[in-house]
Amino acid sequence: MILVTGSAGFIGANFVLDWFASCSEAIVSLDALTYAGNRENLASVAGDSRHTFVQGDICDAPLVQALLEQHRPRAIVHFAAESHVDRSIHGPAEFLRTNVQGTFTLLESARAYHAKLSADERSAFRFLHVSTDEVYGSLGPDDAPFEETTPYAPNSPYSASKAASDHFVRAYFHTYGLPVITTNCSNNYGPYQFPEKLIPLMILNALSGKPLPVYGDGLNVRDWLYVGDHCAGIRAALEGGVPGETYNIGGLNEKKNIEIVREICALLDELKPSPDGPYERLITYVKDRPGHDRRYAINPAKIMRELGWKPRETFETGIRKTVQWYLDHTAWAENVTSGAYRNWIDTNYTERGTGSGER
Ligand code: NAD
Ligand code: DAU
Repeated sequence: MILVTGSAGFIGANFVLDWFASCSEAIVSLDALTYAGNRENLASVAGDSRHTFVQGDICDAPLVQALLEQHRPRAIVHFAAESHVDRSIHGPAEFLRTNVQGTFTLLESARAYHAKLSADERSAFRFLHVSTDEVYGSLGPDDAPFEETTPYAPNSPYSASKAASDHFVRAYFHTYGLPVITTNCSNNYGPYQFPEKLIPLMILNALSGKPLPVYGDGLNVRDWLYVGDHCAGIRAALEGGVPGETYNIGGLNEKKNIEIVREICALLDELKPSPDGPYERLITYVKDRPGHDRRYAINPAKIMRELGWKPRETFETGIRKTVQWYLDHTAWAENVTSGAYRNWIDTNYTERGTGSGER
């Protein structure tokens, strides 16, 4: 069996659901159920005897050690994190705690557990750390995409905390021989993404007739990957990746933010037309994100060449599926956008006003 942290969040839940769709190996899930964690994301495997869900904090060393001793996993797949850049700007402390201290706690527990395994179990064991392309910083318009050898240059408290955790993971391989693998992935989208992130926020705001808040000039570039393709990349790295190595995962899909928002509007015009006219009327330029990275792009040649991975969805197929998923899951969206979510929307957007607009 494997231990998966952060499995009630966006990517973790997709990983668990995809895993059970294609294999029978058991999973123990560890998730603190923060605002971003949602048991409903795992509702379809709630009665499945292969799945054990534990609500708990990755910073809780006795809990993590007990789970390892009790379940004896052959691998840890580590998703749990604070993941939203804007929240890291408003409150960086929680990012330091979960992303750095939490990853450190897992590494320490894994190191002690790994040392007690038999020789065969020790060499088969993997600690797979799920990280981000944001650790590499920001690209200029003509720069080559990030490679595994690109120097780290994190610019937000979120990316700084992920970079710190990546460095600890690396150090545990070199110092203690813990068989770690790190994946650095570009922006994901798809089902179950919490609507603080660009794509679900735009879909749900449009459907409620609310403004579509585009930061700055809307020309920042992200490299989008459908979440199922990211999960397949993680599985490939878990099974075939070389300990101590890192693998960049990306969709070869660079888009400006404003293009994404316009594509969502066009899809909604087709699938759920508004009586008030095209959704683009709701686009509103607002004050930029402080320290906003201009461009991310991933070169995924290594994982494609060495592990045979490649993305299956194009942006066109993936975004259509995603918009349709949100249209089909209005109850899920209503549940996650009540209460504390509204406080966050007030915190992040009320003082932004309107920005300078597309140039
Ligand atoms: P998310 O915010 O949707 O989910 C995070 C999950 O971690 C939640 O279920 C939350 O309850 C849990 N969690 C938070 N703190 C915890 C703690 N202290 N103990 C236990 N559980 C805790 O995040 P996501 O978008 O699914 O991202 C998952 C991972 O993938 C993160 O490590 C993130 O850095 C990385 N990543 C995300 C993207 C992306 O586009 N979303 C891209 C590349 C890498
Ligand atoms: O690159 C991988 C990263 O992608 C992950 O590590 C992070 O966990 C994930 O949150 C994501 O980070 P971004 O900051 O790129 O994603 P976000 O969806 O927050 O924003 C995408 C772009 O859209 C970014 O340029 C900011 C812009 N944006 C975002 C929001 C929420 C807007 O213009 N308006 C918005 O309201």
